[in-house]
Amino acid sequence: MDISVIGTGHVGLVTAACLAHVGHKVWGHDSDMAKMDALLSGKMPIYEPYLEEIVHKNVEEGRLHFTKSFEEAVRAGSVIFICVGTPPKENGEADLSAVERVSRRIAEISDDYKVVVEKSTVPVETGIWIAKTLMFFKRPGARFDVVSNPEFTREGMAVFDFLHPDRIVVGLASPEEADAERIMREIYSPIIHGTFPCPIHGRDCKRSDVPFLVTDIKSAELIKHASNSFLAMKISFINAIADICDKVGADIREVARGIGLDHRIGPHFLRAGIGFGGFCFPKDLRAFIRISEKLGVKLTILEEVERINERRIDVAVGKIRDLLWILEGKQVGVLGLSFKPDTDDVRFSPALSLARRLILEGAKVKGYDPKAGAFAKMEMERFLASNSLQVDSFEIVESPYMAALGSDLLVVATEWDEFLSLSWERIRGSMRRPAIFDGRNFLDGGMLRELGFEYVGMGVP
Ligand code: UDX
Repeated sequence: MDISVIGTGHVGLVTAACLAHVGHKVWGHDSDMAKMDALLSGKMPIYEPYLEEIVHKNVEEGRLHFTKSFEEAVRAGSVIFICVGTPPKENGEADLSAVERVSRRIAEISDDYKVVVEKSTVPVETGIWIAKTLMFFKRPGARFDVVSNPEFTREGMAVFDFLHPDRIVVGLASPEEADAERIMREIYSPIIHGTFPCPIHGRDCKRSDVPFLVTDIKSAELIKHASNSFLAMKISFINAIADICDKVGADIREVARGIGLDHRIGPHFLRAGIGFGGFCFPKDLRAFIRISEKLGVKLTILEEVERINERRIDVAVGKIRDLLWILEGKQVGVLGLSFKPDTDDVRFSPALSLARRLILEGAKVKGYDPKAGAFAKMEMERFLASNSLQVDSFEIVESPYMAALGSDLLVVATEWDEFLSLSWERIRGSMRRPAIFDGRNFLDGGMLRELGFEYVGMGVP
């Protein structure tokens, strides 16, 4: 298949690389020329495990091309994946101007049959607007089918998730789109049947056939928002139960294990802590709430999911106050600044929300992160400047030990594996006061207490 991918951000670059890897010919284009320059010189604009190696391999073997020309990219593909950004507007709605612009330009350029695939996360009914836009601007001889094909990839696991999905969802704009359905099935056939050299497991990694779900386009669009909202709801649910555990002295980890053994509930996404962040969950949840409001169906359940998540930082600050009494003038070391481990992404990171609150309460924060230090520094400098706060209220340090040195409290805000193997004796000896707030219930509290630390988690005795 000849495939064009418009937008080479996190979603687009992974899509382009993986589709080339399973045997298609792929052209990637982005309107950001700095990104294009980087890709054309072999540099990755984002970090994602296995991505660089499959991009290089497929460029070398002639299946993956990058082009600065939108027109060339569109002409090259008989299937065009739209993977442009849909950032949140002030009011929480997704900004769809890039999707509209790209759809119009595809129509203005194409003069044959193309399948246009909506891959960006978009509100329900966007596919219909894409189809209308294509119809309105189309040239003689052109014919379009529009399909929705939402992505379900996690940051840090994107290549794995793309090549080993739980399901592939394809939504058709009209029941007559038999050609489009056949083409999408063909594109994904190597993934459905596991017939590609897996960069992660080696050649032989076939497990069972991946479900290929064909729906109408609106249902497919809703599947994406409903999936992310449901996962966010699981996290807020367990966090609310963690607060009950705190009141009665129960252990949220045991409660999560006990309910997760019910196969109808499942064990995943039940880790309590300082809440969810990242560029997907908070944004998609807000967007879905706005969409439902516009449709006249109030999803109050999701408003509560959002509220519980926002309150996690209040709960954390309350616990820190219980440990330190007065925050003014205290030094707090924060371990982990990214929104989750194994990524350098700090967008909507609960760790930084907590750091900001501690600083507003008068504490000084020394932050350490294995990968996200540089981005955290930029983000925090912006925050300090816009609130006229002293620049030395936040400092990035080079090791967990430096974060602990002279601190009144050490906070675990993101559960990086390396924090499990620290020398806690050394840390205890270097702190002004040996106290730990574990915002992810990640460390062994019993062991730390035996070593003489005060240890507090979220919903654990
Ligand atoms: C998410 C979805 O998982 C993915 O399917 C979608 O395509 C994009 O959004 P991602 O944002 O990369 O992926 O991160 P994910 O691993 O899902 O974690 C999201 C947030 O939830 C993180 O801040 C994480 O720390 C938090 N989380 C996750 C919890 O607090 N508890 C849990 O049990 C699980």
